[in-house]
Amino acid sequence: MKRIGVFTSGGDAPGMNAAIRAVVRTGVAAGLEVVGIRSGYEGMIAGDLIPLGPRDVANTLQRGGTMLFTARSKEFLTPEGRAKAAANLRTAGVEGLVCIGGDGSYRGALKLMQEHDIPVVGAPGTIDNDLYGSDYTIGFDTAVNIALDAIDRIRDTAASHSRVFFIEVMGRHAGFIALEVGIAGGAEVIVLPEDPVDPSVCAEVIRDSSRKGKRSSIVVVAEGGYPGGAQGLAEAVKTRSGIEPKVTVLGHIQRGGSPTAMDRVLASRLGAAGVEALLAGKRGVAVGQINDEIALTPLEEAVQQRKDINRLKYKLAQVLAL
Ligand code: F6P
Repeated sequence: MKRIGVFTSGGDAPGMNAAIRAVVRTGVAAGLEVVGIRSGYEGMIAGDLIPLGPRDVANTLQRGGTMLFTARSKEFLTPEGRAKAAANLRTAGVEGLVCIGGDGSYRGALKLMQEHDIPVVGAPGTIDNDLYGSDYTIGFDTAVNIALDAIDRIRDTAASHSRVFFIEVMGRHAGFIALEVGIAGGAEVIVLPEDPVDPSVCAEVIRDSSRKGKRSSIVVVAEGGYPGGAQGLAEAVKTRSGIEPKVTVLGHIQRGGSPTAMDRVLASRLGAAGVEALLAGKRGVAVGQINDEIALTPLEEAVQQRKDINRLKYKLAQVLAL
């Protein structure tokens, strides 16, 4: 293997640059040429490839976003789109790929390998932490800390006014971000897609908090935790109880900013592991970190298996909200 490609795909996540840097530097150290593919599968289809050397990735470790840009490509979902992408990779002499992204990106990489025999390795890059095969995904820790900072600020004003706040965090269909920030932010209620909530029960917990002398209540709502997210749940609670919650949707601020040390280190390890896997002749695998060790999981399994939230943590959160 002489030349490999690296790209980021799907939603950007803080730490993606650290992973790209690790792919480039580990690859070059092993005698490989590395090319960056810009804008994910869109750039693969358009042939937007650039050579990357160690200096090209200098000063990127601490930056949010992705220096290679990203996209959610519709064309790549078609066999024709994938054929164009594969032809461009062949013309450029790319013999293996490291795909940094979430489950949609993994599915695309798998198809590319199955249909066009291009070796691919996935590295989990998504703030959602919903990828099987790694305890944590690149970007999750940063997103959690950004959301937590916001929740701490909201708690100040909520307590000053004796108010109830519903705060929506990202995570798509998964509640990892909500659970983590809910515990760290001392939320009275955490609403997860993994455990649908009854608005009347939610209202009762809030009323009970107030009876117990709490001056504020924070309800952390995963965006997939209730139809209409935090706004939908706030309206349902208001209708049933007369409580008038304030709603804050944190949105994309959770995806921006400088990655935490944990994300930088995780991304560095996983980027390097991606190159090592390709060099070792592995294909169709996802690299991950499990119990602080690098682990490889077949991509097929990574996209099929559902990663569950930690139920013990969830129970703990309920006890600590007493
Ligand atoms: O997968 C990452 C994520 O930020 C999800 O948490 C969220 O549901 C989605 O992407 C938002 O996607 P977009 O940036 O395309 O609106």
